[in-house]
Amino acid sequence: MRGHGNGRFITFEGGEGVGKSTQLVRLAEHLRGLGFETVTTREPGGTPKAETLRRILLSGRVAPLGALAEAALFAAARIDHVDKLISPALVRGAWVLCDRFFDSTRAYQGARGGVEPGALALLEKAAVGDLKPDLTIILDLPPQEGLARAAIRRASAGARADRFEAEGARFHEGLRRAFLDIAAREPERCCVVNGALPADEVARVIRQLVDARFLDAEPAAAQ
Ligand code: TMP
Repeated sequence: MRGHGNGRFITFEGGEGVGKSTQLVRLAEHLRGLGFETVTTREPGGTPKAETLRRILLSGRVAPLGALAEAALFAAARIDHVDKLISPALVRGAWVLCDRFFDSTRAYQGARGGVEPGALALLEKAAVGDLKPDLTIILDLPPQEGLARAAIRRASAGARADRFEAEGARFHEGLRRAFLDIAAREPERCCVVNGALPADEVARVIRQLVDARFLDAEPAAAQ
């Protein structure tokens, strides 16, 4: 089933190491504390089939085929994710918090990868139909800070830089601009939050944004 139902769909976007995953967990804790069913997920991934595609994409094995082929595979993962997890949760009335969604394709494969906008739009329509986030939080951070954070995280996990982390400084600077451009084009959907603030402060700003947009007129769910 494809659809939006009564749920709320919030996506987190930004470059590498900006703190999306931490902030997504913090917002989920807040919403669950208010009694709302809250589903947390990520892209690429979120379902077993999409997680398989994630491993292939982040290994860099698709990169030699070009950015359009990568975009097509991100879209393939998204189809399964939307059909099996996101849409059913929204239709049940849950809140869905997703770490990356179509804005990442627009920024990484579009703005940075050079995939033509018409081709991206077709893939996007095929993958998500009319589904679009109710709110997209774009965490903004100078890329050198984000990449340094990502390197620390990798070192503690004993992992190597993935396909996109391994790109150079110009790529990451361009990504930052691409996300800010997306926010400027869709100000009603996107909010830019300063990812350089302490994590507690970022969490507070995001909670306020979400409460003001969705909850101030609405009582907490019955426990
Ligand atoms: P992350 O979720 O750990 O940030 O890793 C996902 C990586 O995949 C990240 O480098 C961004 C990249 N990506 C794209 O290039 N296009 C996409 O559509 C998505 C969802 C992610």
